[in-house]
Formats: sequence, C-alpha cells, structure tokens
Amino acid sequence: MPHKEKFKAYVDEIYESGWLTNNGPLVQKLEKKLEEYFGVKNLLCISSGTNALQFAYRLLEMEGEVVTTPFSFVSTTSAIAAERLTPVYADIDSESYNIDPKNIESAITEKTCAIAPCHVFGNACEIEEIDQIAEKHNLKVIYDASHAFDVKYKGKHILNYGDMSIISFHATKIFHTIEGAAIVIKDDALYEKAKIVRDYGKDGPDSVALLGINGKINELEAAMGLCMLDEEDIIHNMRKKSHEFYTQQLKDYVQLQKKNEDATQSYTYFPVVFRSEDEMKKVRAALLEQEIAARQYFYPSLDTLPYVEHRKVMRISRDIASRILVIPMHSGVEPKVSKIIIETLQKLR
Ligand SMILES: Cc1ncc(COP(=O)(O)O)c(C=O)c1O
Repeated sequence: MPHKEKFKAYVDEIYESGWLTNNGPLVQKLEKKLEEYFGVKNLLCISSGTNALQFAYRLLEMEGEVVTTPFSFVSTTSAIAAERLTPVYADIDSESYNIDPKNIESAITEKTCAIAPCHVFGNACEIEEIDQIAEKHNLKVIYDASHAFDVKYKGKHILNYGDMSIISFHATKIFHTIEGAAIVIKDDALYEKAKIVRDYGKDGPDSVALLGINGKINELEAAMGLCMLDEEDIIHNMRKKSHEFYTQQLKDYVQLQKKNEDATQSYTYFPVVFRSEDEMKKVRAALLEQEIAARQYFYPSLDTLPYVEHRKVMRISRDIASRILVIPMHSGVEPKVSKIIIETLQKLR
C-alpha cells in the first residue's frame, strides 16, 4: 500500500471534482506519467491484464491460431481462447522458463496469426529471435509483460517491444492500481482505434463507430497508481536487496532462473526449482507449518487446461511447473521469516 495521506489527498480531489470515471483527469495524468516512466508512446490504461490481452486480440481482428507459452498465468492462454482463437503451445526453455524460440517455428501453421510470449517472472524473452520469426512468417507479436515493470531490454523499457505489450497492474504486482493494466500499441492508427474500442466503440457523444467494450479504469484506481509511482524507487531498492540476499544464500541449494543477459534483472519474484516434485512438496509443507505460504507459480502447465485442444504434451513446462515455488519477497516479509525460508531450503543439501 502506498502512503495513506497521499491517497487521501487524491480522494479529496475526486470528491471536489465529482469525476469518478470515463477517462477523468487522474487517468489521463497517470497515462502520461507512465508513458514518461517507460519511455513509450501510445499507452492506454485498461481495466485488467486479462482484459488488456483480450483487447489486443480484438483490436487486431484476428482469426486462427496463436503460438504461446504453456508456462504463465492462466490469462495468457484464456484471453486467446476467449477471443475465439486457438492457443498452440511452444515449449519453454528449462533454465529461463520462457518460450523457447526453437520451438516456435515448428508450432507455426498456415493458420497462425500471432505469437504471444510472456516475460516470465520479469525475465526478458529472446526478443530479437522472436521478432525475426514473426517477420519471416508475417505474424503479430503480443507480449505479456505483466511481471516486467522494472525491466529494460537492450537499453529500452521492455514495453517498447512487440506489436503490442500488455502489463497487469493487479494489486499483487510491484506497481498496481488495485485492478488495472496498460497496453502499449506500436501502430499509431491502431492506438486511435483502441481509444474508441475501450470506450464502448463510441467515437463521439452520440456516435458508435466500432464494436467496443468497457475497458476503462476509474479515478480511484488511477489515484492509487499515481501514489504507487512516487514510491517505485523505494520498492525497487528494497526488493533488489532481498533478491540479492536470497540469491547469495540459495544459489547452491536450488535451481535459480537463468536471466537474459541483454536485459536488466527484475527483482519482482524469486522462483526456485527443486530436484523433484516430492522435494518441492516437502519444502512447501515445512514452510506452511510455520505459516509461510510459498506459491506454486505457475501450476498447472497451461497445456493441461480443460478448454484447450491438446496437440502435444509440453514436457518441459509440466516438469518445471511440478517442481517450482515462488518464495515470498514483499515488503511485509520480516527478516525472521526470510531466515526460516533460507534455513528450510538450505537443509535440502
Ligand atoms: C503473466 C500474467 N498475465 C496476465 C495476468 C492477468 O492480469 P490481471 O490479474 O490484471 O487480469 C497476470 C496476473 O495477474 C499475470 O501474472
């Protein structure tokens, strides 16, 4: 939570203006600030990360198959299926946990219209290789950058890449608007269309031009975002310290995610992979006994979802999903809790 007094001042401002939603001054201010912060143009806030992904497919008016990762939060796939497209998986790399470009090409068919990777745990994908494949096959690239608020790739913020990039601002993220998200759109004409589609398809007070949705965030959510943005440097530095400490203490005991060297390191999550599912379960139970909840992100592997067509087993994704835990690293984790986590994991060897 950001500083309470600051949020209260925004609440007063909202009461004075009487403006609660419909692209109000605080939403506009937040969008401008985020564009500056990320060094991007054409950013729109959207009501959630899931909606932003669906919004992206709807804007592109695509049909057919989307090659995507089986190892991500469920929305990366559900948004594809919800827009009546077919998710087709390309397995991940066993060390970076990101979609492996080597597997993308063999998943492409004459029906493929897009590639939808996720920068998992903020670890940048092999962006150049993915771009080359997309160009060769004339495909769109939609990145799920929900975990990558603090990441730059080759000197530019990661949201600069792909035809579109989306980022969730859900309350569990290091930057949040309670519920909310943003989409960054490369093409200027598509950005203009997006503003209309986000607003029910209306292009004027009495005119509807396109099939639209209600994709807006409201003034209270924007106020939360503005407060959070002021505190991002503090949050980043705190997480960096915890991340580096965990890395130092745990690198010889569990598998840590291999980072893309062309990108800055994200300090948002701390995933650890155990030697077996059994070992993971033992550690999770031992931590739970001490009231520490480590999450099995991301489980299940998305190629096991009941509503997707099963073409091929994503062996690596299923394997990693069965052995992974993300250990708590947020501001509420007290040193005595980190100590228990570290000792529990160190006991493994
Ligand atoms: C990778 C990823 N994509 C999409 C989402 C969905 O975002 P939201 O919760 O804002 O709908 C999340 C989770 O919040 C996520 O972790």
